[in-house]
Amino acid sequence: MQDSYWYKDAVFYEVYVRAFFDSNADGHGDLPGLLQKLDYLQALGVDCLWLMPVYPSPLKDDGYDIASYYGIQPVFGSLDDFKELVEAAHARGIRIIMDLVLNHTSDQHPWFQLARSDPNSPYRDYYVWSDSDQHYKDARIIFLDTEKSNWTWDEVAGQYYWHRFYASQPDLNYDNPAVQAEMINVAKFWLDLGIDGFRADAIPYLFEREGTNCENLPETHAYLKQLRSYVERHYPGRILLCEANQWPQDVRPYFGEGDEFHMGFHFPVMPRIFMSIHMGDRTPLAWILEHTPEIPSSCQWCTFLRNHDELTLEMVTEEERQWMWQVYAPEPRMRLNLGIRRRLAPLLDYDRRRIELANSLLFTLPGSPILYYGDEIGMGDNIWLTDRNGVRTPMQWNDGPNAGFSQATPNLLYTPVIEDPISGPEVVNVARQQADAGSLLNLIRRMIALRKQHPAFGRGSFAWLQNDCEAVAAFQRALPEDSLWCFHNLSAEAQSVPLPEHPGQALYDLFTGRVLPPSAGQLDLEPYQYVWLCLQQV
Ligand code: BGC
Repeated sequence: MQDSYWYKDAVFYEVYVRAFFDSNADGHGDLPGLLQKLDYLQALGVDCLWLMPVYPSPLKDDGYDIASYYGIQPVFGSLDDFKELVEAAHARGIRIIMDLVLNHTSDQHPWFQLARSDPNSPYRDYYVWSDSDQHYKDARIIFLDTEKSNWTWDEVAGQYYWHRFYASQPDLNYDNPAVQAEMINVAKFWLDLGIDGFRADAIPYLFEREGTNCENLPETHAYLKQLRSYVERHYPGRILLCEANQWPQDVRPYFGEGDEFHMGFHFPVMPRIFMSIHMGDRTPLAWILEHTPEIPSSCQWCTFLRNHDELTLEMVTEEERQWMWQVYAPEPRMRLNLGIRRRLAPLLDYDRRRIELANSLLFTLPGSPILYYGDEIGMGDNIWLTDRNGVRTPMQWNDGPNAGFSQATPNLLYTPVIEDPISGPEVVNVARQQADAGSLLNLIRRMIALRKQHPAFGRGSFAWLQNDCEAVAAFQRALPEDSLWCFHNLSAEAQSVPLPEHPGQALYDLFTGRVLPPSAGQLDLEPYQYVWLCLQQV
């Protein structure tokens, strides 16, 4: 675990601890439960876990509403459990990053309670207060379906307070140096416990300035650079991953000159993978990659197909959004805010070919991929649950009671296990897929293993391989010592594409072991087929 650029090759896995495995039969997944499942994650081959928030919280936004930064939500376990988990993960060569929620706290946080009840408390200025709700009018509302304003009147304080998310999540005031220092201390506390970094939540919104949209402000960048420099000085090798749901040119500054974030999610590439697959046309994908700027060589994009939130459609045009809703969220219940609250497998109609194709793009495009728990077995969703809860149901380990997730009586589960004939645990579960060599789980494991054998996936250059067939996304990933050609037939029809000249080199198919000779001039692709070829000197 010595390489300080480890994150460039890593495969990440997002864990919703509450959903993963319940060790004490109380109906909630917990840290000791996750610890018991490390063998599973090791066998899958993932390098780094991203834990969704595990801090004490009233759970009005599933832990993104933090009531104390220095502890563990009791139903998830204790700090000792956490330490044990980190140690056990490291012993298996698995790293752990956590959410660092900088922008806001829960309204239950003692800072907010003290702030609202006493105008003279030093904590008053930890939050953003006003006598009027007319400031910062240019800041958009993010949780459009629930919030009418970014200001909420607080009876106790007799003032409005500012919040970019739920009203129960007041924004911290980063103009206050005490807040800036507090959050560095929070980072220190967890890094001292040995974690490998943070996914920094909702970072575009730290500062507010009149006359701006209050996103990506220079003051925000200046603070984040301070955070980075602190981490760099005291914890080299640990990473900061930026959650900024923005266009690539606006995310670019979050990498700075290699002195702000190590990694940043590439939000807009995600919906375009779905667009390209539905259209059978690489154009949307090609367009966004063309509009993705270079990043410093020490930095890396983070790519994903799905996560714990709605599939966000903020980074598409209005027309594209309407189209995406029409094709991927035909029922109103499937929509939330500016997005789609569904999981990967149901989005792709449980069609194994398209699920594999999407994963192949995830694993071969530039960036380090993040898998969302359960997507490796093709778990379904429950659109009858509210908010984003339908994509946060218990992990399906086997076809036993509660899908093997918990021994509690079902009415105690934090949320019901999926029940449907296509994606319920009788059909979709880990045990069954472990026993089936041809399962999605084993295929994903294979993709991860192949990716790890080929450093060009994480660190290589990217170039399109020219062909006139828009249904095929073909590109090269290359390092001087490792050259790969990846082909994706995005369409439901068979396609045939010319192979670029490759004199003196055979093409080795990483999945089948088939070898195409230097003279091979064409590649035939079945509907939705993907092929990873490695160039080998003959
Ligand atoms: C997280 C969400 C959360 C929000 C507010 C995000 O971007 O991914 O799940 O609701 O931040 O913390």
